[in-house]
Amino acid sequence: MAAKNQTPAERAETLRKHIEEANYRYYVLDDPTLSDAEYDAQMNELRQVETEHPELVTPDSPTQRVSGQPADEFAKVRHPQPILSLANAFSAEGVLAWFERIRPLIPSDTPVAFVVEPKIDGLTVVLTYKNGRLEQGATRGDGIIGEDVTTNVRTIRGVPIVLRHEGASTSSRSLSHFSALPQLMAVRGEAYMPIRDFERMNEALLAAGERTFANPRNAAAGSLRQLDAKLTAQRPLRVLCYAIVQWVNGDAPSGSQSPATQWELLHFLRTCGFPVSDIARRFETLDEAIQYCQSYSELRDTLSLEIDGMVIKIDDLKLADNLGFVGRDPRGAIAFKFPAREANTLLKAVTYSVGRTGVIIPNAVLEPVRLGGITISHATLHNFDDVARKDIRIGDRVIIRRAGDVIPYVAGPVVSARTGNEQPISIPETCPYCETRLVRQEGEVALYCPNVECPGRLDRAMEHFVGRGAMDIDGLGSRIVAQLIDAGLVDDVADLYSLTSEELLGLDGFAEKKALNLMDAIANSRHQSLERLIIGLGIQHVGEVAARALASAYGSLDALLEATLQELDEIEGVGPVIAESILQWTQRASTRDLVKKLKAAGVDPRQDRHRTPAAAPGPLTGKIFVITGMLSQPRDEVAAWIEQHGGKVTDSVSRKTSYVIVGDAPGANKVSKANQLSVPMIGEDELRRLV
Ligand code: IVH
Repeated sequence: MAAKNQTPAERAETLRKHIEEANYRYYVLDDPTLSDAEYDAQMNELRQVETEHPELVTPDSPTQRVSGQPADEFAKVRHPQPILSLANAFSAEGVLAWFERIRPLIPSDTPVAFVVEPKIDGLTVVLTYKNGRLEQGATRGDGIIGEDVTTNVRTIRGVPIVLRHEGASTSSRSLSHFSALPQLMAVRGEAYMPIRDFERMNEALLAAGERTFANPRNAAAGSLRQLDAKLTAQRPLRVLCYAIVQWVNGDAPSGSQSPATQWELLHFLRTCGFPVSDIARRFETLDEAIQYCQSYSELRDTLSLEIDGMVIKIDDLKLADNLGFVGRDPRGAIAFKFPAREANTLLKAVTYSVGRTGVIIPNAVLEPVRLGGITISHATLHNFDDVARKDIRIGDRVIIRRAGDVIPYVAGPVVSARTGNEQPISIPETCPYCETRLVRQEGEVALYCPNVECPGRLDRAMEHFVGRGAMDIDGLGSRIVAQLIDAGLVDDVADLYSLTSEELLGLDGFAEKKALNLMDAIANSRHQSLERLIIGLGIQHVGEVAARALASAYGSLDALLEATLQELDEIEGVGPVIAESILQWTQRASTRDLVKKLKAAGVDPRQDRHRTPAAAPGPLTGKIFVITGMLSQPRDEVAAWIEQHGGKVTDSVSRKTSYVIVGDAPGANKVSKANQLSVPMIGEDELRRLV
């Protein structure tokens, strides 16, 4: 460093250049050359120089990203031209139909190429540069009038304060015709928060006792619209830019030209110093463009940010422009939307159900809403801890999320939509079915009804018993199960085997044929394998794999009842969580009664006993996991699933931990420990991919 022989003014200038270059390499090129420590050291030195020589502070200095006093409200600004939206397509056919509609408007000899970009799930910002300097940052607002969030936008480190392009020589010949910047240029981009940063931020908010955000988009919007820019500066916001909405040349004799194609535009923005998506591609045919979009319907989970689709744009900007728009949607582009994972609706009420194992589950009753092709009117609220943590209230607008095939759940409230009339969700003290006092097991957040004969459990237990993967009794759906219970014909699953056709004929909707068929189906289920019977008995955490292992290790229910913890623990496919749960089950008097009753009813399948040969190693064999935060299923279920695939689950992060599985609102300690020890943190989707 030439610090010694530089004047303070020169030194400040050098540092600024280095820092801007580092920002550019980090945020735009994604190719950092300075370590965090080096970067911080340079920033500190610059601050030092500027403190000693306040006259050297320039408005563009990287130290001045955060400036100004908190505002009372945002000023309104009129956009240079309407900030348009996009029409949506939800399938390849939808995209083809879009192009069929516009094809007649395009001269027949014109070749049409396309640029495909990710559709970033953030919020639009419009950045205006005057003579290459950031003049204004605005939100989209209603598309005509937005809010002036300049001081906030300046704090986003990826947003260039001074553009690089001016005077810079470019080696790319194709770009030479717009080597000069216009006097006035407004660039449109999307502000967003990377998923990992979002999770870390939520964790910090949680640790500080503050409310977390339901998703990265809300977090980005909430952060950008802080009246105090110092707060925005602390939030891990980023931008990706994709359009130029204003290009005004001054009186200069040879005005510069704006890029002629979207592909050039993206390159131009990048050379100016704007972050641009690195997965944008250009295609000569629409089919290829569609295929590229479709590939990201899978790949979206591998990206560091949330995208809700891809955007296909006609590359030739003049052509696109000439096509005009329909309402607010330009004809020259279309969003290829991925199936939604989220919707937002009213939480009307909360009901409570009892799971098979007695756990009390709060359920959301929702204003019906379409999500990913189905209408959702109920969603799980997981458990009461989660409700409290997310501060979900009755009357809230809530975000419903559905990932893959799992049951929809309430991700969180839309706090900004509160009216003040929302009511807290109460925690019941007694079971809604049998009025037994509820208990909380040590170290668990879940609330249980300890009554093993609770009727609330019975219908679930019975539905499970008769289900496809278990005893597979045809014609016995949840409606008939409820009928049998309501009519007092069954108190447990063994009672199914003593039903008579007269009893069935007494039920609504039963004619002779239906009754006889059901009787047959029930009788036949006596021959189901021991494995299926074990599954059907619904021992907590015992799924197919563990049931198979138990059946071959013990050969009969009687033998299983005598199992010891140590024996169980040694069986491949049964980890400590499952073993403990089996033991709890075998030790219950009601279990013993039920097994006796089943045997008396002729349900006593046997199987040759042999220790499972050291089972082929599972995909997770040798891997140790720690779980933190809310997952899409109760944590025990996920732990049991990991065990079933050969993995182990422990409580605390150590050097031995292979992965930390991070859910919603993870624990601060576990995450920071994982960071410290460089233990990879993965989400639930990645976990499933390991298998
Ligand atoms: S182009 C005329 N490109 O999606 C230009 N929009 O649903 C119209 N968005 O309001 C927008 N990523 O906020 C465009 N690569 C991208 C985008 C993108 C995200 C947002 C944008 C727009 C919304 C439309």
